[in-house]
Amino acid sequence: MFDRRSMLANSLFAGAASALPAAALAEVPLPGDDLYARNEDAYWATLRKQFLIPAGVVNLNNGTVGSSPRPVLKAIYDSYELTEQMMQPEPEGYPIWGYGPWTEFRAPFAQLMGARVDQMAVLRNATEANNVVAGGFDMKPGDEVLISDEEHGSGEQPWMLRAKRYGIVVKKFNLPKPALTPADILNRINDAITPKTRIIFVSHISTNSGLILPAKEIAALARSKGIISAFDGAHAAGMLKVDLNEIGCDIYTGSMHKWLFATKGTGFLFVRDKGVMERLWPTTVTGGWDAPARDVDRYSQIGSSNIPAMMGLLAAIKLANSIGIERIEKRHRVLADYLHSEMMKRGSKDLTSPDPAMRCAIATVDMAPVQMHELMDWMWANHRIRVRGGAPSRIRLSTPYYLEKADIDRFLDRFDAFRKMKGIA
Ligand SMILES: Cc1ncc(COP(=O)(O)O)c(C=O)c1O
Repeated sequence: MFDRRSMLANSLFAGAASALPAAALAEVPLPGDDLYARNEDAYWATLRKQFLIPAGVVNLNNGTVGSSPRPVLKAIYDSYELTEQMMQPEPEGYPIWGYGPWTEFRAPFAQLMGARVDQMAVLRNATEANNVVAGGFDMKPGDEVLISDEEHGSGEQPWMLRAKRYGIVVKKFNLPKPALTPADILNRINDAITPKTRIIFVSHISTNSGLILPAKEIAALARSKGIISAFDGAHAAGMLKVDLNEIGCDIYTGSMHKWLFATKGTGFLFVRDKGVMERLWPTTVTGGWDAPARDVDRYSQIGSSNIPAMMGLLAAIKLANSIGIERIEKRHRVLADYLHSEMMKRGSKDLTSPDPAMRCAIATVDMAPVQMHELMDWMWANHRIRVRGGAPSRIRLSTPYYLEKADIDRFLDRFDAFRKMKGIA
């Protein structure tokens, strides 16, 4: 069907597409540490210029997907320009680079995440990595995987498929809403473990609420009972400092195109050691997947692959490192704490946690009787403010570092206006 709306959308997209290369590839200087020392807000406002999101647009939905900044776009574009000339010295260099070990891409990302290169595979997204995990361990009918009631479809459904096809059992525990202490979460997991539990699979940061689960303690609990610990860290990479070997989990998955702002279609799978690797079958294989020299890169042997996407990933890591992940995390927390406290003042119900340590750059509240979908459409159509959540009244607010306090104040002001218009406030 070709309706007026899709015609309009297509023509808007065509305009944006033709304008993109020149605007995206223009180099804009990064702010220096001296500016950060003098004026933190000015530093972040300067960084905002790296992003193509038009001035005046407020994106409070970074949880779905991030926006790749200029250095990332330039790296992708340059790489396409180079590879598409087909001038590679080796006849079978590009475009079948899917067969390489990809050490040059894995190593810097592993380092950012507190892991070694031989523990880190680069895949296409968290969904792909979660499917490797759910399909990869030998399990008998009746064996259990324990997950939370807040897993993303990409975390939960691969297990549901396996349950339907092979008879494993998916057992769920409820996360507290809001969570008051890490111990409360840990106790619920402990209570749900049975002699048949083989794997605990939970998000490190909940997609619904932004709650940070106590990953290190969960991993230790699992280990003490001989259970595999696997985390879906789709929101963690680039949002906050993660040290995977300090967490001590067996498996950790995620995407770099959310909070690290890397190329769309970049994800990862961390596997602790050879022992776990020997138990985790790959899902997609091609020649050489089982060669003894292969480490965790056996899970990324998917055939011809997108190397320009990897070049964008490298640029995203470089940008994050040049800012510093601790500095990014601090900024994320400052913005989210402010927004969280303002929503509390407005009478919302907390769905994340009152403990600032248990959240970072996502705060979720129930703002009943405001209707989420009405608010979402109104905010975007009238004010170019993007929010996300779930029916009836759950709103998930993400605070990527490029937002300014004024952006948050604009959202709050419009939120108040919406409630007034509806006769709520
Ligand atoms: C916790 C969690 N896991 C997995 C995913 C899926 O991520 P992707 O689409 O990058 O595979 C998401 C997406 O929002 C998520 O929030």
